[in-house]
Amino acid sequence: MGPGDAGDPAVNDVDVIRVAGDARLAGTVHVVGAKNSALKLMAAALLAPGRTVITNVPRITDIAIMGEVLRRLGCEVRFEADDPVDPMVAGGGTARSRSVVIDVPERPGTEADYDLVRRLRASICVLGPLLARRGYVRVAHPGGDAIGSRGLDMHIAGLARMGADISGEHGFVIAAAPQGLHGAEIVLDFPSVGATENLVMAAVLARGVTVIDNAAREPEIVDICTMLNQMGARISGAGSSMLRIVGVPELHPVRHATVGDRIVAGTWAFGAAMTRGDVTVTGIDPVFLEVALDKLVSAGALVETRGDAFRIRADDRPAAVDVVTLPYPGFATDLLPMAIGLASVSDGASLITENIFDGRFMFANEMMRLGADIKTDGHHAVVRGRDRLSGAPVRATDIRAGAGLIIAGLCADGVTEVSHVHHVDRGYPDFAADLRALGVEVERGTVPQAPDLTI
Ligand code: EPU
Repeated sequence: MGPGDAGDPAVNDVDVIRVAGDARLAGTVHVVGAKNSALKLMAAALLAPGRTVITNVPRITDIAIMGEVLRRLGCEVRFEADDPVDPMVAGGGTARSRSVVIDVPERPGTEADYDLVRRLRASICVLGPLLARRGYVRVAHPGGDAIGSRGLDMHIAGLARMGADISGEHGFVIAAAPQGLHGAEIVLDFPSVGATENLVMAAVLARGVTVIDNAAREPEIVDICTMLNQMGARISGAGSSMLRIVGVPELHPVRHATVGDRIVAGTWAFGAAMTRGDVTVTGIDPVFLEVALDKLVSAGALVETRGDAFRIRADDRPAAVDVVTLPYPGFATDLLPMAIGLASVSDGASLITENIFDGRFMFANEMMRLGADIKTDGHHAVVRGRDRLSGAPVRATDIRAGAGLIIAGLCADGVTEVSHVHHVDRGYPDFAADLRALGVEVERGTVPQAPDLTI
């Protein structure tokens, strides 16, 4: 697996990526499967005994951790070479993706421990499938994280409506349905991605019909519903706000290719617009990025789409645009750091509004170290664009913040050193190599961690 695979960096070392400023992204980059799909597809494998094969899985730390979650549940998990893409393209070859082969036993385990769940919040998505298969599950509560407090109430309320008895004890969520789950009508308060996925994975094996209203509509939800239907599930409405699931007694394993990563693709699109570059991104249906690409066109970029690819070019300094994050098909919260980066170098002032996570603006403090002019107030930020930023050492606090800081560093004077880039490795397969292939002077290394001082 890729960098960071061995787990956290050595205790006294911190991984850094250094980029030279005044850069311009140019060339072609291939995007592999979406982290946020592949993780859930791996969990969905638990629903059928036997061998599931998922291809186009990104070679990133989070996938390695999900592999370990499944192993601890009694599955055999191995990663194999994937179908090759043009090796001349950044991100091509077989370096960035893998096929994962998962052999699921008749009776998978029922427990996911905190040591893994704390490293991968998405481990919570084993809740629905294990409850459906085993009638009992005990998963560590993941708690909040750097982007905000992240509740589980909708997962829990939905499973309870399907007949599960849910309790919390010693930091674990415990769900039991000894008589099996039954269909239910569920209206989500908010179109939560994780809750929708957990409830769908529980409902496919429940007795009767489940309707999930106000469901999330992300392409990753469509991807998991497609795979589940191939496995024998009866889900209709994927991609709309209303999912209808007719429970079936059992599912069978399949081979499935992960949908392309729209957030990685969007990261390159913002990078091209910010650096007045010319980048072709392959491996992604541009429809999944419609709102983001429209924003970049409003900012002055030229976008051409064709099939599973798009080309983005920008000749001038971007014009300021306002951005509001919303559930899909709205502007993705995971691209918020890139939107702030764009606003920081745009001509004019932008109003950026974050509606999904309460902690996303932590990233703004690091951007200010690069000279960005940002004022935050609650879930709004006013960003006054600067002609250029000023390279500095900054710290990645989460996956997207890390990628956003590296891209912002391309528009700075001098060198920007982004530390704690093990966060970036959680979501971007070899980001530094792709940057290099797109013409950036970049190096990866480690620096000693400052010692804890005590008196
Ligand atoms: N929420 C609740 N209660 C719940 C569920 C969610 O209050 O029961 C709240 C959350 O606290 C949050 C909001 O609803 O404020 C949205 O949460 P959602 O459940 O939609 O997000 P998620 O499933 O936890 C996934 C992605 C995130 C992405 C969000 C939104 C995965 C593994 N993670 O999280 O991706 O930002 O959807 O699109 O799929 C990332 O990849 O860097 C990342 C953070």
